[in-house]
Amino acid sequence: MEQYAIKGGNPLVGEVEIGGAKNAALAILAASVMTDETVLIENMPDVRDTNVLLQAMESIGVIIERIDRHTVKINGAHINGLVIDGDYIKRIRAGYYLLGALLGKYKKAEVAFPGGCNIGSRPIDQHIKGFKALGADVDIAHGLIKAEAEHLRGGHIYMDVVTVGATMNVMMAAVMAEGQTIIENAAKEPHVVDLANFLNSMGANIRGAGTDVIRIKGVQKLHSTEYTIIPDQIEAGTFMFAAAVTRGDVTVKNVIPKHLESISAKLIEIGCEVEESDDAVRVVAAKRLNHTQVKTLPYPGFPTDMQPQIAVALGLSSGTSIVTESIFENRFKYVDELTRMGASIKVESNTAIIDGVDRYTGASITAPDLRAGAALVIAGLAAEGITTIDEIRYIERGYEDFPLKLRMLGAQIEVVDTEKDLQKFKLRVG
Ligand code: EPZ
Repeated sequence: MEQYAIKGGNPLVGEVEIGGAKNAALAILAASVMTDETVLIENMPDVRDTNVLLQAMESIGVIIERIDRHTVKINGAHINGLVIDGDYIKRIRAGYYLLGALLGKYKKAEVAFPGGCNIGSRPIDQHIKGFKALGADVDIAHGLIKAEAEHLRGGHIYMDVVTVGATMNVMMAAVMAEGQTIIENAAKEPHVVDLANFLNSMGANIRGAGTDVIRIKGVQKLHSTEYTIIPDQIEAGTFMFAAAVTRGDVTVKNVIPKHLESISAKLIEIGCEVEESDDAVRVVAAKRLNHTQVKTLPYPGFPTDMQPQIAVALGLSSGTSIVTESIFENRFKYVDELTRMGASIKVESNTAIIDGVDRYTGASITAPDLRAGAALVIAGLAAEGITTIDEIRYIERGYEDFPLKLRMLGAQIEVVDTEKDLQKFKLRVG
């Protein structure tokens, strides 16, 4: 089974190019089937989740042409089925965006109940409530969610919780509904804005994305477009924290610094220098990090997808830190793994109390989910000795060429498949 083998101790130094945002790409790829004309998407991340979604789209007759690794042409004119089932789609969360997209276009869709990272219970009641408000009947049976409407008409939806997924799904279902839809208490994440911009470039009429009230006036049909996906805020943030934890000096390039403000603010608070330019952010960590408190919140708050990475940094800071997870209740599963590396962390319900230690030590550990996996890699990069990380398939869901990008910054990390590979790695790194 493939693992990452890491020899810690090198500060990360240099520049790294950030790819397109996975969580924007997943919604935008699904939305591209909403026109019969061909859509060109650029800056698509080549990660497992996007590839699984493209495979699901092909299974219903969508024509996908890979122009290069990050550019894809999509044509949804010859869709020949509205049922998306199969094991592969259950492994990702974003299969459910095809529900909104197909319901919006064909007024009917059936999609396997979504999977995704096991980070807590992940209800979809707000998606269902939104579809129903637009006039659809929604039924869950035999592991499928089935949505159908004779006629979709605009509705007024108040989201009970701030949800990225439901905001984007209802937005897709509403773009061709008759009349006006209003989504209140909408999510404001950059990927919500990116999806709205994408749909507007196809002829939709969406206003207010990025605020908590989104207004959608239904249009008759959507047309072809060429669109570039925004940079990945979480990939960028992960490298920024990798710089901090290894006491390095890393410039993340091809980013939108505004999207990284909550991450930069925390890095400054814990003693890093952060320099912003138009499309890059440099993080320099010259000394031991300071402790702090942080609570995950919807955008523009500190992202839940960065919670494990900041916890790994605070585990090496001076003093006691408190990390509160307010979005997903089961997102501390990495704590046991980090404890094997010498961290001192106590979890009480949705709060982790972290007593900073002087050093982590290499250990054999397992990635419990995508972001926690990336955070454990960072811990390994800072640890004394060798760390091996299993279940790297989780990390590959959302990070393109992660080991390669880290090696370009001076990290010693490799994918190994056998005990022999691991021994060779150990000999090489000394
Ligand atoms: C998206 O998940 C992302 N996934 C997650 O990224 C991310 O952690 C999350 O948004 C928050 O930013 C994708 O984009 C594919 P939510 P999603 O709906 O849409 C509750 C990663 O690592 N809720 O914003 O599933 C829910 O339980 C992944 O890249 C309801 O109660 O998240 C949670 O507490 C992991 N009812 C909160 O809302 C609903 O109908 C936010 O969830 C929907 C959600």
